[in-house]
Amino acid sequence: PFKGDDLKEQILKLKKEKNAVILAHYYVDAEIQEIADFLGDSLGLAQAAEQTDADMIVFCGVHFMGETAKILNPNKKVVLPDLNAGCSLADAAPKEEFAAFKAKYPDAVVVSYINCTADIKAMTDIICTSSNAVKVVESIPADKQIIFAPDANLGRYVAKKTGRELILWEGACIVHIDISLEKLKKAKEENPNALLIAHPECKEVILSQADFVGSTTALLSFVQTSDCQEFIVATEAGILHKMKMAVPHKKLIPAPANEKNSCACSECPYMKMNTMEKLYNAMFYELPEIQVPEEVRIPALKALKAMLEISK
Ligand code: 13P
Ligand code: SF4
Repeated sequence: PFKGDDLKEQILKLKKEKNAVILAHYYVDAEIQEIADFLGDSLGLAQAAEQTDADMIVFCGVHFMGETAKILNPNKKVVLPDLNAGCSLADAAPKEEFAAFKAKYPDAVVVSYINCTADIKAMTDIICTSSNAVKVVESIPADKQIIFAPDANLGRYVAKKTGRELILWEGACIVHIDISLEKLKKAKEENPNALLIAHPECKEVILSQADFVGSTTALLSFVQTSDCQEFIVATEAGILHKMKMAVPHKKLIPAPANEKNSCACSECPYMKMNTMEKLYNAMFYELPEIQVPEEVRIPALKALKAMLEISK
């Protein structure tokens, strides 16, 4: 029944009444980013979820992010505006297949990217995000074999950076692998002074040409601190909202996606399932709620805590 500013006001009112906190990822729509109490990359969001004293966590992101918040806060209510907001990386590693894969390397340390289900986290020794993956892998003794799942592109990037051989699970982010190399080359020709900055979920062929590689938060701070005035941004286009606000005088060019994508730039269909209306309903009805069974939550928490401990 509410629209525009009225809807925004009602969300803020509910937030106060219910002592809720709104956590949002940079890939959700700008109006949601603006209403959030905390906006960040996956590591920042996990840390914010760990530290909150709110009674209800409203996660404007995707399902694995809500699960992560619930794993850290079993006694708080965690709601997601749309339960269908999944992630191709989480989908790429089904529980049974991953268990069989892991069984082939009984002595390996399992490092999983936070973009995975709670079931996979429960089979993991240490979680990582794009901002600490190199540090996490470097923390593992050199004589240990390492399984890295589920993002093989991030895995290949980390293997290159650390010089470690990683046993990779072949998952990928549908958004980042859809960035068109051909169109990117053209964009570079048209903007010869621009630096190419990329998220490590991109394919190796794109990362090898990038001037800077980092998580969403790292990309945002790079455009702020770099002396350069032009950037081609190879990640989901949602990050451009905060970038434009942070450096309004600089030229920001979203990396072009392939033809099959409906928009000219890269958009995550799951992140875009979050709307202001669904956010309001989730807060009003306190639904849909994320649940994680204790037998999964406890080992998953151990793997998450191992990461949070070395990322302080
Ligand atoms: P970060 O924000 O941690 O870089 O992750 C990007 C992403 O794809 C989240 O799903
Ligand atoms: Fe998953 Fe990729 Fe969407 Fe991030 S951008 S939620 S990794 S599909």
